Amino acid sequence: MSTPLRLGIAGLGTVGVGTVRIIQRQAALLTARTGRDITISAVSARSRDKDRGVRLGDYAWEDDAVALATRDDVDVFVELIGGDEGPAKAAVEAAIGAGKHVVTANKALLAMHGQALAEAAEAAGVALRYEAAVAGGIPVIKALTEGLAGNEITRVMGVMNGTCNYILTRMQSAGLDYDTVFKECEELGYLEADPTLDVGGIDAGHKLAILAAIAFGTRVDYDALTIEGIERITIEDIEQAADMGYRIKLLGVAQNSGRGFEARMTPCLVPESSPLGQLEGPTNMVVLEGDSVGQIVLRGAGAGEGPTASAVMADVCDIARGLDLPVFGVPASSLKTVQASTQDTPSAYYLRMELFDKPGALARIASVMGESGISIDRMRQYGHSSERAPVLIVTHKTSKDALDAAIAAMPATGVLASDPVALRIETL
Ligand code: HSE
Repeated sequence: MSTPLRLGIAGLGTVGVGTVRIIQRQAALLTARTGRDITISAVSARSRDKDRGVRLGDYAWEDDAVALATRDDVDVFVELIGGDEGPAKAAVEAAIGAGKHVVTANKALLAMHGQALAEAAEAAGVALRYEAAVAGGIPVIKALTEGLAGNEITRVMGVMNGTCNYILTRMQSAGLDYDTVFKECEELGYLEADPTLDVGGIDAGHKLAILAAIAFGTRVDYDALTIEGIERITIEDIEQAADMGYRIKLLGVAQNSGRGFEARMTPCLVPESSPLGQLEGPTNMVVLEGDSVGQIVLRGAGAGEGPTASAVMADVCDIARGLDLPVFGVPASSLKTVQASTQDTPSAYYLRMELFDKPGALARIASVMGESGISIDRMRQYGHSSERAPVLIVTHKTSKDALDAAIAAMPATGVLASDPVALRIETL
């Protein structure tokens, strides 16, 4: 039997406690699968006295994550603190500097500092693994780096924020407005401490930036993404989309089109009958497309104690087995700089707006769209009040530039009573 693999776990929240539980409950299984005992030398968290419902007395305690990361009896530093700066970043850097392997669930850290950390880890000859950072329990990093290693990846898509998917599907199933369901999420504890990370699309954007780097061999570049949250989606949008056979999802799409790299995390319409359209509640789904494999769909819990700790342990087991892979699938020094596309792939769009209810209002909007070169597929008024007329337009395929030009020209018509909401209709 080889020597044990000794962990130092920083952060004893939901995922940290879940990781300790797996190590305690599945010790024999982990040893059988990796050929080594997996042990915990030390842990650290903000409060030592809190009752976490798990046995911690056998492990040394460190108040400081950096001290934990550099202990002599730690082979793998497991970072479950979170945040792209502060103690998480300092401790990961310290661990790599001290020659320790690192396992992290920290999507923000990787999205913002992935390139520098990957270069440092590869130069130091240590692993930096992060399966738990993207889509919780779904083994999507392994799918891309290992299972699909023989494919050129053509597109990556996904619903990767469970809270947003819960909000959108709950609005639809219960006919509730956004604010009511947002409050429900607060009560259920679904929201991040800063809810903008969820509903503003930032958390899901971090995950997409990481997947795109692996899929397309580029440096992680969160700033190259177009990000839009779900805050402006109304129950009307959801009901109108449903009426046309669509569902609204906060959908990430990354692809390398002939025009360059495109990546966006935005609310989109997807066909109701598609796997993404059928995804209910706080579940995640990632769709990967490769030149040989075609399309594969991975579905599962994107958060929570068991699923996220399961992903942490997959990385720990790989390190125990001695699996040595570049952080983003190819050596960090060879990752290319993202060449952002100058134009998105053309698409049909859903547009909702309110017009002042006066003669010729619809005609003026239609004419602005025509002047921008946009062809209208469907147009209708619904739920009329005495002064304002809600209007829905579905376009034929058009460029985003043409759509933006039309939207920019609308206020000058004098008939627009609210800013239009524009949602891409994604083809799957
Ligand atoms: N808040 C995230 C979600 C989980 O709702 O999916 C952690 O990334």
